[in-house]
Order: sequence, then structure tokens, then C-alpha cells
Amino acid sequence: MANLLLLNGPNLGLLGRREPEVYGTATLADVETRLGKQAAALGHTLEAFQSNAEHELIERIHTARDSVDFILLNPAAFTHTSVALRDALLAVEIPFVEIHLSNVASREDFRQRSFFADIAVGTVAGFGVASYELALTAADRCLTRATP
Ligand code: DQA
Repeated sequence: MANLLLLNGPNLGLLGRREPEVYGTATLADVETRLGKQAAALGHTLEAFQSNAEHELIERIHTARDSVDFILLNPAAFTHTSVALRDALLAVEIPFVEIHLSNVASREDFRQRSFFADIAVGTVAGFGVASYELALTAADRCLTRATP
């Protein structure tokens, strides 16, 4: 049994209404409910947190230090900008998977840089809400086996 933290960055609270042609029609509540059930079925607990504020995400990562075994992270636009969020993850040394709904590799140039990809266990991108489910499956494998 492990404690998982699902962290979502800016504008993901608008999921379902925000550019549905890019990000799909499921809401963040749908994603969190789905992931919670998937985690429970695997014998894990999952807590979810979304913020538009960089400092709140950093504080939540700091708080996770002693209680969370694995983070599922969609940093959203902070993917491409946030050294501070990267440093927070390095500081707490909690393994994480980077998640994107869209296939960022096929999008604008400014989305080609990730401040997280090289320190993540891995990245799942391009599968819509299934990116989150695949990331949870990968996290479970990391937690229960030596390699994913
Ligand atoms: C995103 C991709 C980011 O480039 C973008 O800023 C987002 C969402 C995704 O899930 O596809 O807000 O992280």
C-alpha cells in the first residue's frame, strides 16, 4: 500500500471547458474520481491537489515529503517555465511521473522544453485522460517492482 499524490498545475481546473479539442471533455473532478478508484483497486491511497499558483504547488510538494510515496504530476504551463517546481521535487526526493493530456512534442516550440522530463521516472503524454491512468499504472509498477 502506497500513498500517491495527484498534482495538477494552472488552468487544469477548467478541464472539460478549456480547449476541449486539445484537452478533451472530462472535467478535473472526473479525472480525480477515476484515478482515486484506480488507486484504491491497486491497494493505494490517492490525494488530489490542483492550483494555479506556483507557490501553492511548491508548498504541497514540501508537505508531501514525509507522507507521499509517489507523485503523479501534470505541471501544465509550469512544465515549460518552472525551475522552482523542479527544485521542490528534487528537494523532497519523491519519485514522480510527468503527465500531459496532449502530445506536447507535436505542439508549439515553446512546449518542447520540459523542466521535469529529465528528473521524472518517465513521461506519459498524448493520450488525454488515459495519460493519467497510464501514469498510475506505471507508478504502481515502480512501487511494486524494481523497474516499471
Ligand atoms: C499540458 C500541456 C502544457 O503545454 C499546457 O500548458 C497545459 C496542459 C497537457 O496536459 O497537455 O496546460 O500540460
